[in-house]
Amino acid sequence: MNLGREKIVIKVSSNGFTDEKHLSMWERIAKHIGWVSSYVDLDYVDNPGHIPAVGIDIPAAEAWNKGIGTQALRQFLGYLKKRGYKSAYTQTWSGNHAMLRIAEKLGFTEIVRKKDYRMVDGKLYDAITLRIDL
Ligand SMILES: CC(C)(COP(=O)(O)OP(=O)(O)OC[C@H]1O[C@@H](n2cnc3c(N)ncnc32)[C@H](O)[C@@H]1OP(=O)(O)O)[C@@H](O)C(=O)NCCC(=O)NCCS
Repeated sequence: MNLGREKIVIKVSSNGFTDEKHLSMWERIAKHIGWVSSYVDLDYVDNPGHIPAVGIDIPAAEAWNKGIGTQALRQFLGYLKKRGYKSAYTQTWSGNHAMLRIAEKLGFTEIVRKKDYRMVDGKLYDAITLRIDL
């Protein structure tokens, strides 16, 4: 995956003679690197009000730790707010430090913790549900 830059050369011509100017432009390549989503059937938490829970997945590890996940979820929460939602959940596990840090940066608060509920790579972790008021 290339999150770098691409060189674009623009050729400018004018009357009678060719006056070539090269304007080098550097532009970020738009690449599909992941997605955000929402769902209302939460694991181990009743959700009678159908409050959306947000999730995110950026599969390519080389795109991590550049602030992209935080930015994407912030925009998605803004979108939900515009659609009239007053709050949102997110669910993760205690070993997912990057997701927990994103939730912290965005202002989520932990509301439910299920001890040793999630098995990841043969190890048990707490399942955590967090909530934010939009
Ligand atoms: C979780 C995920 C969305 C994070 O995306 P991202 O673009 O790397 O997130 P950001 O760069 O915006 O923020 C990550 C934060 O976590 C921190 N972080 C990353 N790994 C960490 C670790 N092991 N311990 C502590 N903090 C960590 C980063 O330093 C950063 O915090 P900072 O801005 O204070 O420096 C991405 O790793 C991913 O898609 N992972 C796979 C799917 C997944 O786990 N989704 C969540 C399911 S609940």
